[in-house]
Amino acid sequence: MSLGEIFDKKNNDLSKRIDKKKVPEHVAIIMDGNGRWATKKGLPRTYGHKQGVSVLKKIIKASKNLGCKVLTVYAFSTENWTRPSKEVNFLINLFSEVLRNQIEEIHEEATRIKFIGDLTPFPETLKKIISSSESLTKNNNDFLFNVCVNYGGRQEIVKAARELALKSSSGEIKPSEVNEELFNSELLTRGLKDPELLIRTSGEKRLSNFLLWQLAYSEIYISDVLWPEFNEYEFLKAIIDYQSRNRRFGGIESLPKESFEDSQCSS
Ligand code: FPP
Repeated sequence: MSLGEIFDKKNNDLSKRIDKKKVPEHVAIIMDGNGRWATKKGLPRTYGHKQGVSVLKKIIKASKNLGCKVLTVYAFSTENWTRPSKEVNFLINLFSEVLRNQIEEIHEEATRIKFIGDLTPFPETLKKIISSSESLTKNNNDFLFNVCVNYGGRQEIVKAARELALKSSSGEIKPSEVNEELFNSELLTRGLKDPELLIRTSGEKRLSNFLLWQLAYSEIYISDVLWPEFNEYEFLKAIIDYQSRNRRFGGIESLPKESFEDSQCSS
């Protein structure tokens, strides 16, 4: 699959700068700035969310064409309930509308869709369409699109801890058996590789309770662009920046043995 040509202002094809062997398997995105984009244009904030959906469609395609396997987006946090009820209701209706209108196309593109978060407070109509979309696409293995709704990283961690405590008190596991692997298996993202790259738009430099466990070693890319103005070009810039990083996972860059000893001896 190819990404197609994506040109920068100097007419250089950005897609040529991508190292196909170093494409992140899992990308997570905090799509931020919808409200500000709309307000800047003198429009209601809800226009920003609508425009955000068109951008999301482009980025799903771009990440899939690039060779990523999983895209996880933050669509509604546990804190978003504190927004005015008009905006909350708009977002809930938007999720249903997007699923109703796009699920066939998502399915045809061999993409699996999954919702991550506590769906309990959502209306039955949305829960039903989420469930039918998940079951329609469950055997699609090319690409996984995770949508985090009513999701909070701390809540997810607390829930995992509670599950393990219950299993321990019932004798199913011993407290000494609790390790990272077991903990991971209680998370909503169980079975998935952690994201190698987190992109946040709109210049904000926070995690905002998103995938707190899973992002422990992810590279973070902050784009100043507001989500409704984000596009394939900005996405490739994030990937190129990611590919220039030296991921050490808390260790040191692997050096030939002599170089390490040399550096120890030099004063
Ligand atoms: C953040 O911008 C964006 C959101 C809270 C909602 C994003 C949701 C979508 C784009 C819809 C996705 C739909 C599906 C079905 C996946 P903000 O409102 O926090 O912007 P601000 O920081 O400028 O106020």
